[in-house]
Amino acid sequence: TYVVLENCIKCKYMDCVEVCPVDCFYVGENMLVIHPDECIDCGVCEPECPAEAIVPDSDDRAAAWAEANRTYSTQWPNITRKGEPPVDADEWKDKPDKAELFSP
Ligand code: SF4
Ligand code: F3S
Repeated sequence: TYVVLENCIKCKYMDCVEVCPVDCFYVGENMLVIHPDECIDCGVCEPECPAEAIVPDSDDRAAAWAEANRTYSTQWPNITRKGEPPVDADEWKDKPDKAELFSP
């Protein structure tokens, strides 16, 4: 499965949802997650994310966020259409240590 990392926090560009063939993205207040049982590992979302927030679970960085993706994908609403990203999304891109800003 693919995993959304903290890079998504406060960026939330949503380009990923437009390309996912199985609509397995779920939306929280300031980031998205992927439902690990619905993702078919196609990989098309990974290069679409301007924040480089999506990685396969084989990536070392995935472990820290795999549980959050599993947990919140069952609690947050499904999202299938790109909405308006936060106005300051570009300012948050590439910012380190955004994990503490995660808002369940
Ligand atoms: Fe959707 Fe494919 Fe990305 Fe999985 S890897 S979230 S199926 S676009
Ligand atoms: Fe987040 Fe990137 Fe999608 S910033 S909403 S994972 S396009």
